[in-house]
Amino acid sequence: MVLETLYFILQLVLTIIRKIIDIHSQLVYINTMIHCVCNNINTAKVDAAQQRGAKTAQDVQAFNGCTFNCGACKDSIQSRLDLLKAESRPGLAAAE
Ligand code: FES
Repeated sequence: MVLETLYFILQLVLTIIRKIIDIHSQLVYINTMIHCVCNNINTAKVDAAQQRGAKTAQDVQAFNGCTFNCGACKDSIQSRLDLLKAESRPGLAAAE
């Protein structure tokens, strides 16, 4: 009985550790996801630009000292900005 209880607790602890590692891996992936291949702008750089007032993808490019090359990243960067805006104003985003 004691061994079965210990085994159960061990399995529970391992499951929790796996979940924590999984969540951490997803967060690292999100922050390192590349939005702009031409200028190496990842999510962390988009977030930093947004925190300093960037409202458009063009603002993000300017914040990072560059301009659009191919422009394929516009939608991806703008989606991230929109998500950050919605997260900072959840009540207003729901009403929009
Ligand atoms: S991917 Fe951003 S300018 Fe090309």
